[in-house]
Amino acid sequence: MGKYDIGVIGMAVMGQNLVLNMERNGFAVAVYNRTTSRAEAFVAAHPGKNIYLARTLEELAEALRRPRKVMLMVQAGRAVDAVIGQLKPFLERGDVIIDGGNSFFQDTERRARELAEDGIRYLGAGVSGGEEGALWGPSIMPGGDPEAYKLVEPIFTAIAAKAEDGAPCVTYIGPGGSGHYVKMVHNGIEYGIMQLIAEVYDVMKRGLGLSPAEMAPIFGEWNKAELASFLVEITADILTRSDDETGQPMVDVILDKAGQKGTGKWTSQNALDLGVPTPTINAAVEARILSAFKDERVAAAQAIPQPQHEFTGDREQLIGDLRAALYASEVSAYAQGMALLRAASHEYGYNLNLSEIAAIWRAGCIIRAGFLDDMRAAFDREPDLVNLLLDPKFKQDLVEREERWRRAVGTVIQLAIPAPGMSASLAYFDGYRSARLPANLIQAQRDYFGAHTYERVDREGVFHTEWVEA
Ligand code: 6PG
Repeated sequence: MGKYDIGVIGMAVMGQNLVLNMERNGFAVAVYNRTTSRAEAFVAAHPGKNIYLARTLEELAEALRRPRKVMLMVQAGRAVDAVIGQLKPFLERGDVIIDGGNSFFQDTERRARELAEDGIRYLGAGVSGGEEGALWGPSIMPGGDPEAYKLVEPIFTAIAAKAEDGAPCVTYIGPGGSGHYVKMVHNGIEYGIMQLIAEVYDVMKRGLGLSPAEMAPIFGEWNKAELASFLVEITADILTRSDDETGQPMVDVILDKAGQKGTGKWTSQNALDLGVPTPTINAAVEARILSAFKDERVAAAQAIPQPQHEFTGDREQLIGDLRAALYASEVSAYAQGMALLRAASHEYGYNLNLSEIAAIWRAGCIIRAGFLDDMRAAFDREPDLVNLLLDPKFKQDLVEREERWRRAVGTVIQLAIPAPGMSASLAYFDGYRSARLPANLIQAQRDYFGAHTYERVDREGVFHTEWVEA
């Protein structure tokens, strides 16, 4: 009978750091890696710790207390299915597998169904916070079998980040793939916020001609108040760094081609499937895609005349406007993400608690921000809040900033600096609070060319007009 509390498979940095976090919190951990030398090196580098090196999956299973808990920290996709397939023969009914990677939520649903046939319980847990988070406290979003969650709850509660009020940043999210779904939307919001910050940086660079060193204190200052957040904080830090080789600002020597592993794109794809607008997230995904067309962009920059990007107006005012625009645009992006969670909760029967989700995003995760406390309070006050933009606090924040937000977007458009995220955030706000949109004309056009019919404003029913007189 084994004595280890949990097994962790996959000794890349995230896996290693999670193991160290568990061990530091008093849990005995058995580790396994497909390439044994990697796990060996890890265990050797941490002598005296309560970590057991399993050279085979059988050894891992032997080492664990029953019911076993095995956490997978392997690359999302085929590797997860492969490891489950290899591990399953050594597990028994009632054992628990937890997938801590960025798996697609529908893969998680399928794996849970397949494993349930053998009585093995499955949890899909989103883990956010990068390498540091894994080591010192991530935000954890576990979904799946509620009984299985109870078994891992003490471990997750101990290793999770703690919010300022001391609450651990983990909660049972819901059934099926809901944990990975919520992590996916977290990442969609992450893409949105990163794009918004990048747009502000671009205006400071191209519009105001500021150097990274000049921008850093501005972001640093913003990070002290309403924009306090991990992503603004690291931006300020990034902007102060120089390249060791060239002495240039680090950010200037990094090629402007964004990578992506898919979670942001999945958010947009799923939002389209559910019929929920997430324009800021979509804009962020597309901006990354456009950035990857570097060669074409360089050629087009030669081929198409360049307008004047330099701003000649009141510089202090523009910086103030950008600050207001960034805050308002971020709130708009969160509002879209939360509205998507709300819709998914109905669609998939996840029964999500948006207040708790906002609460566990307050620390540990990449999108942690001071205003998540207000967001939690908003969903506490009104658990059925249909949109964050309707919450009295956020509504007031946006209305107060509206003039500056609008002026910033207008200026940026005038300067021909692309700001798809900021524009999309504002258009979402404007569209959402429009009682009437021009969709009546779209309906007329559809009916004109395809007899698709329309409804009327003055009475019930479905109508068609013979638009072309015979
Ligand atoms: C997190 C991050 C993490 C990962 C992103 C990067 O919450 O800790 O989201 O999961 O760094 O998935 O995603 P891209 O490679 O797609 O930017």
